[in-house]
Amino acid sequence: MGKILNGKELAARLNSELKNKINLDYQRTGVKPKLAAILVGDDPASKLYIRIKRKTCAEIGIDSILINLNGEVSNAELFTKISELNNDITVHGIIVQLPLPVKFKPFTLEFIEQIDPLKDVDGLHPINKGKLFDYNEEFVPATPKGIITLLEFYNIELKGKHVVIINRSNLVGKPLIFMFLKRNATVTICHTSTSNLENHIKKADILVVAIGQPDFITKDKIKEGAVIIDVGTSRVNGKTRGDVKFDDVFDKCSWITPNPGGIGPMTVSFLLQNTYNAYKRKISE
Ligand SMILES: NC(=O)c1ccc[n+]([C@@H]2O[C@H](COP(=O)([O-])OP(=O)(O)OC[C@H]3O[C@@H](n4cnc5c(N)ncnc54)[C@H](OP(=O)(O)O)[C@@H]3O)[C@@H](O)[C@H]2O)c1
Repeated sequence: MGKILNGKELAARLNSELKNKINLDYQRTGVKPKLAAILVGDDPASKLYIRIKRKTCAEIGIDSILINLNGEVSNAELFTKISELNNDITVHGIIVQLPLPVKFKPFTLEFIEQIDPLKDVDGLHPINKGKLFDYNEEFVPATPKGIITLLEFYNIELKGKHVVIINRSNLVGKPLIFMFLKRNATVTICHTSTSNLENHIKKADILVVAIGQPDFITKDKIKEGAVIIDVGTSRVNGKTRGDVKFDDVFDKCSWITPNPGGIGPMTVSFLLQNTYNAYKRKISE
């Protein structure tokens, strides 16, 4: 019988602790943390994600500003906007909401490289990616940080475990490689060109799936007693669905994240935590 890794509950607790810390720092310094979000174009999903992030910021005492540029801006204008935010001493964290509209996609890395690494609260700047290579987790993407924190909170043993991750993106799979290695797990990364994917899944003590395909993971595919982390999200008939057929696998796994209510809230929480860390570093200078 599976047990729930309750990301929603833990995120609420972490947010409340963070709110108290921010309040104390604000009383002491008169300065509030501030997050700047750049949104290019009007993709509805991106707009929704930004709205959720800003709402949670407001709840815990982080100021946020939204710079919504229309999809017709030039690369130069976008670079200029990022530079302005780098130079704005009231801004502690900067995010560029991804994915960018098609015309900007080839330049995504160039835009990210423009962000001051000390304000890179999405953890995507090459300097922060490089630090993670050396197991320095000061600025890592929020989703992997949320996954590891949730596992550690529930005392799930990672040392010696075989972790299988189905995803190799910069936001999820790649950072997780280093974070699990740091904790002495053995890691297998799978993607669309992986041969015999089912054989890999079957060997996972801990399975992380982030592909955006509803019900992809079923009972017959997993190992008895596996820990299942369901990251992928899709909208089906107006409802959010994960990559795992929850009711089907529940009896066979040992632990599982619900989706929604698992990794999503943890991700938002760690974006805010990263923003607080950037702020804390600044006010401690
Ligand atoms: N809950 C949250 O807070 C949260 C946060 C981040 C992401 N997500 C969700 O997680 C999913 C992934 O996000 P992302 O930004 O990492 O997306 P992405 O860049 O599109 O990555 C998807 C990954 O899944 C792999 N993949 C897709 N279909 C597969 C299949 N049938 N078999 C094996 N591998 C497959 C892809 O392989 P290739 O590399 O070969 O294409 C790729 O590595 C999305 O559904 C996203 O909405 C949720």
